[in-house]
Amino acid sequence: MPSLPSRSRPLAPNSGAPAPGVAEVTGVGPVTFESIRDHPRVRVYVRSADQALAEIGYTEHGERHVGLVAHIAYNVLRRLGHPEREAELAAIAGYLHDIGNAVNRENHAQTSAVMAMQLLADMGMPDAEIVQVMGAIGNHHENDGDPVSPVAAAVILADKSDVHRTRVRNPDMIRFDIHDRVNYAVERSFLNVDEAAKRITLELTVDTAISQVMEYFEIFMTRMVASRKAAKYLGTSFGLTVNGNRLT
Ligand SMILES: [Fe+2]
Ligand SMILES: [Fe+2]
Repeated sequence: MPSLPSRSRPLAPNSGAPAPGVAEVTGVGPVTFESIRDHPRVRVYVRSADQALAEIGYTEHGERHVGLVAHIAYNVLRRLGHPEREAELAAIAGYLHDIGNAVNRENHAQTSAVMAMQLLADMGMPDAEIVQVMGAIGNHHENDGDPVSPVAAAVILADKSDVHRTRVRNPDMIRFDIHDRVNYAVERSFLNVDEAAKRITLELTVDTAISQVMEYFEIFMTRMVASRKAAKYLGTSFGLTVNGNRLT
């Protein structure tokens, strides 16, 4: 499985190519995923967003979550044969998708998009790429988002797949709410992209002593519907397995 380009492994040679329909800016290199992740302003935004959510009792939304979403969004598009630059835009959108939580949880997708716009414009990203990233960020939330592009679809799938016990911050199991319980019960989650079968499967290993599978559905039904819609947009089906049993 290809992994997200890191500092030690430079981007593929064609990574500088603009996305389809995007005019290249002469003399200005592409805004890379690494340059976003390592930008001092992004560090402040991501950490502030996570801190704000900690204050109101939400699960972890920090560098672990957004780094994972970036990684998965990138891999989804690469495995399905999308261009390298398009996958990198998905990684960038994935890393920035929750920064708006620093302002307010409500409408955070749209706030994140506007905050990203200013940052990306300052960094010299072409407008046609900026709007792709903004559209993906602004549509990542299951209640009011839609897969309006491959980049958006990849970010939706990646974001909805991050359910894991490491996201639970509440140290007191007795005081777990249903979100804590469901997240804590998930020992392993993996978004499997089968490019040959055109099928994307969220594979979960759940400790049913902590949370029943029904609780998972109670919390995550809207997320599953959003994932299915996003998978369909990418020309694939979507499935869910829990402890090896295919549920959808
Ligand atoms: Fe979000
Ligand atoms: Fe998120």
